[in-house]
Amino acid sequence: MNSKPLAYDAYQELAHHYAAMIDRKPHNAYYDRPAMLKHWPDLKGLQCLDAGCGPGEYTGLLLERGAKVIAVDVSDKMIEIARARHGQRAEFRIMDLAAEHLDFESAKFHFINAALCFDYIQDWDSLLRECHRILKPKGLIQISCGHPAFDAEYYKTNHYFSIEQVQCTWKGFGKIVVMPSYRRSLAEIMSPFIRQRFHITKVVEPLPTDDFRKADPIRYKTLMHRPSFLLIQAQRL
Ligand SMILES: C[S@@+](CC[C@H](N)C(=O)[O-])C[C@H]1O[C@@H](n2cnc3c(N)ncnc32)[C@H](O)[C@@H]1O
Repeated sequence: MNSKPLAYDAYQELAHHYAAMIDRKPHNAYYDRPAMLKHWPDLKGLQCLDAGCGPGEYTGLLLERGAKVIAVDVSDKMIEIARARHGQRAEFRIMDLAAEHLDFESAKFHFINAALCFDYIQDWDSLLRECHRILKPKGLIQISCGHPAFDAEYYKTNHYFSIEQVQCTWKGFGKIVVMPSYRRSLAEIMSPFIRQRFHITKVVEPLPTDDFRKADPIRYKTLMHRPSFLLIQAQRL
């Protein structure tokens, strides 16, 4: 690693707290995951990459669906937790998705799942160029990320069209952590897929589930009229 990835320190600090709460934290368990799962293709027997796997919640779900999984994350603590959880059922590697080259052979994967990790990568063209290379022809990538309308307002930006480094304080994981990320416009989310020869197959603005309403009725009400995440699925041309 040449320089430290943007959110490395924050996720190293947060890893155990994140892992302890991920199965019931409403924005993950009752908002992001149900939306992502709803749009996954049939994965039985397919070679999948869980990019930015964190503590391996999605890795387990990919395995449950019969996929062969390689899971990567820049945080060694996250990888340690995910490996302890799933052992040899999946392969785990420490990997920086912001690197110019992802250490995989070309055309290895049928499917890349990248939940809530693209927000920490500045150059999506570079990452998607590599995703294109390591996907098989017609392979799919599915990501979730911050919704550009929500983020523009949340971070009170005066530079909507720029890719901006922003930060906020996370208090919801039982430990207060300053979390840096990159905020970008709608065009800066969609265009790298198009430029890197992907056909966008789905654009989803998720709705919270009923379990979200039971867990956090106030945020549920807000999410019902103002999405905070965006999901994109795209096929490698
Ligand atoms: C919000 S968590 C999502 C974890 C998991 N995908 C999930 O949804 O449960 C973001 C993850 O992205 C990882 N991450 C951040 N920057 C990264 C980078 N440059 N390369 C690889 N992983 C990164 C973090 O370490 C963290 O585990």
